[in-house]
Amino acid sequence: MKTREHYQNGGPSVDLYDIREAGGPGTPCDGDVEFYLRQAEVTGGPVLELACGTGRVTLPLCDAGFDVTGLDRSEHMLRVARSKLRERSGRTPKLVRGDMARFHLHRTFRLILIPYRAFHHLLTPAEQRRCLLKVRRHLRRDGRLIVHLFDPRLDLCLPARNRALNERACAPDPRTGHRTELVVGERLNDPLTQTFVETWTWTERDRDDTVMRRTTDILRLRWTYRFEMEHLFELTGFTVIARYSDFFGGAPRYGAEQIWVVSRE
Ligand SMILES: C[S@@+](CC[C@H](N)C(=O)[O-])C[C@H]1O[C@@H](n2cnc3c(N)ncnc32)[C@H](O)[C@@H]1O
Repeated sequence: MKTREHYQNGGPSVDLYDIREAGGPGTPCDGDVEFYLRQAEVTGGPVLELACGTGRVTLPLCDAGFDVTGLDRSEHMLRVARSKLRERSGRTPKLVRGDMARFHLHRTFRLILIPYRAFHHLLTPAEQRRCLLKVRRHLRRDGRLIVHLFDPRLDLCLPARNRALNERACAPDPRTGHRTELVVGERLNDPLTQTFVETWTWTERDRDDTVMRRTTDILRLRWTYRFEMEHLFELTGFTVIARYSDFFGGAPRYGAEQIWVVSRE
């Protein structure tokens, strides 16, 4: 049986994305949309969001009047974004299916965003460099790039299997009333390549607690250290303007978020 990959093959990672990732205090994205809106006011549009997913960031930027393009490699995530567009009126973003390490949009942007840790989906340094070089080509001289990553916690990156990292229940799906429990049952780290594979099992129950569906998929990411990012930016022709540990301007902090604001050299 083919392994289901997070976001790429549909299923709960896509269907429940907007319910699970609604943001708020204590979450990695707390304050990110407001932060990106303020940055867009500084740079002006057009704005490109790479790995835009269901449009969590794209749509508010568009609502604020910016000319926005969102690119994602998952047709399933883009389908959710498009369905939200059908329920709205006014300005709409351009949504494009593509790989953030291999895109040609034949235009340039004043602001390019890679929100919510999506850069970790690039699994090798070569892919990361390729992506940053593509960004540079699509960025205007006075433009900015913002990348959000997590700062790796070393205790979670040891060369072993970590078991039962995480167990949580998702808020009920308002469309069906069904609840989904999520167990991140295992994480397999490879410190040599700085990648890990997590196995996520989703169990959906109806209002009577009957199991309706159980799905397993994997999430594969590459962890990237602060100074690696700094060197990658230098290598691909960017200058660091600011670095934060949260979207409220906190100084860099171990195990928190990495938020980079960079410009073209
Ligand atoms: C955590 S979601 C972030 C979605 C959105 N940016 C947000 O902040 O809510 C990660 C997204 O990255 C996309 N993605 C992963 N690798 C990609 C790649 N190489 N090119 C484009 N999109 C990619 C996935 O399909 C998924 O939609």
